[in-house]
Amino acid sequence: MKNFLITGGAGFIGSHFVLKICELGQRAVVLDKLTYAADLKNLSAVERNSNFKLIEGDIADRELVLKILREEKIDFVVNFAAESHVDNSIAAPENFIQTNIVGTFNLLNCTLDYWKNLDAEKKSEFRFLHISTDEVYGSLSLTDPKFTEENPYRPNSPYSASKAASDHLVRAWFETYGLPTITTNCSNNFGPHQHREKFIPTVISSAINGRAIPIYGNGKNIRDWIFVRDHADGIYSALCDGKLGETYCFGGNCEKENLDLAQEICGILDEIKPRADGTSYAKQISFVTDRLGHDKRYAISNAKVERELGFKPTRSFSERLKETVKWYLDAKRAV
Ligand SMILES: NC(=O)c1ccc[n+]([C@@H]2O[C@H](COP(=O)([O-])OP(=O)(O)OC[C@H]3O[C@@H](n4cnc5c(N)ncnc54)[C@H](O)[C@@H]3O)[C@@H](O)[C@H]2O)c1
Repeated sequence: MKNFLITGGAGFIGSHFVLKICELGQRAVVLDKLTYAADLKNLSAVERNSNFKLIEGDIADRELVLKILREEKIDFVVNFAAESHVDNSIAAPENFIQTNIVGTFNLLNCTLDYWKNLDAEKKSEFRFLHISTDEVYGSLSLTDPKFTEENPYRPNSPYSASKAASDHLVRAWFETYGLPTITTNCSNNFGPHQHREKFIPTVISSAINGRAIPIYGNGKNIRDWIFVRDHADGIYSALCDGKLGETYCFGGNCEKENLDLAQEICGILDEIKPRADGTSYAKQISFVTDRLGHDKRYAISNAKVERELGFKPTRSFSERLKETVKWYLDAKRAV
């Protein structure tokens, strides 16, 4: 049994990875600051398992991180902890600099101290996997090819700039100190457990609560959607089979304009939870002032992860979207 330190494991993507690790019979030690973005219900399926442990704390806390690495005999660090909402980064960037940059720096530095003192076998098997975003590559025009691992970094928001900085730190700790790191950059995730501030939960919650469904600008911005459990599987394969010092990009092969996606969600709700007056939820869609510096299009090429890790999204986007909408209704996370 391997010991995983999973930071940010009470958040959206991290919690799916924790469930996967526990299902595989490995041991998940979660370090999470339990910010507004965390939800312990995300971990309720494993909270009583002997191979699960939750520690409330900050990745920027040197003493705590070193203590966990040593006492829990960690074999793999998987770093999901981050401030993750672009709008919040525009309104108040300080926390993004602190957690995403200073926090990642501390995690790397503590891990290096711990890793240097491991015995030869444990040292060679150890991995530090850092989760990042396609937003570090900037924005694509409609005709640009999809992002690949070779794209230059061109972050446009305080969020993406802070993630870009953390990716550079991870690279430097590999190149300079030889810490065995891997970085993954992925597109927009969707699925159960996502905080209601994000686009898909906002659309569902606004629709069923009879509020206006807010769409930025003209709704033509494009995102590439990956199902969160596919992403968790991809991260696990990057950890097992990825090459040290490499970056792996994960996308969903599914580009959607925001307005089309909102309409698709309204169509699903019309079918499974029709409005009392029989009209479509789509009539609640309302355009609002665009986000500052709103990136036009993100899209990721999966060529490298398909070739090197055998990665493929498991089911169609529309099946997964329907499953997701049902989950928000059943789990009462959108009411
Ligand atoms: N959600 C997406 O679509 C998406 C896409 C690409 C990349 N990512 C990246 O994936 C990672 C996870 O994203 P998410 O959507 O699950 O985020 P999230 O906001 O849902 O969860 C983040 C978690 O990190 C915890 N956290 C925050 N600051 C911390 C700190 N200083 N110390 C310890 N824990 C802390 C929070 O309490 C929360 O549980 C992030 O690094 C994000 O940048 C997310």
